[in-house]
Amino acid sequence: MLWLKAFHVIAMVTWFAGLFYLPRLFVYHADTTDEPGLARFEVMERRLFKLMTIGALATIGLGVSMIVEAPGYLRMGWLHAKLGLVLLLIAYHVYCHRLMRDFAQRRNHKTAKWYRLFNEVPSLLLIAIVVLVVVKPF
Ligand code: HEM
Repeated sequence: MLWLKAFHVIAMVTWFAGLFYLPRLFVYHADTTDEPGLARFEVMERRLFKLMTIGALATIGLGVSMIVEAPGYLRMGWLHAKLGLVLLLIAYHVYCHRLMRDFAQRRNHKTAKWYRLFNEVPSLLLIAIVVLVVVKPF
């Protein structure tokens, strides 16, 4: 179980590296107008999104493996709340893909300021999820 948990946390770190950096790229992308710059951001975002998705799938897979190994987890309130927040995280991840596609099709109308606010969401979810799983308040 401890090996699963260790790699679960490692995978979570790689997922969050992408969740923090991809919206940051969107901030700069929204202010870019020159063709070489636009093309460079598209390549960077596409590659980062792939790595981020591998991190997400590994985090979820290892998390589910721990539940399969110890089904008693499913009776714990903190895990119910955690999984609710993880669903929000997955929705955020999927929405990033849509935004990335809008940029690639030159259909982005959101401002750099909007992306700066959007970039704060993963930090709030990270704090809430880690407090739930480490402190287990209920
Ligand atoms: C479907 C997704 C997920 C499932 C099913 C899941 C499930 C679990 C389970 C069963 C544990 C073991 C808890 C324990 O024994 O103390 C655990 C540990 C942990 N999870 Fe997740 N998790 C998921 C996603 C995440 C995400 C997105 C994060 C990141 C914010 C995260 C962060 C952690 C941390 C930091 C631990 C270690 C806690 C400790 O050692 O006290 N998990 N997870």
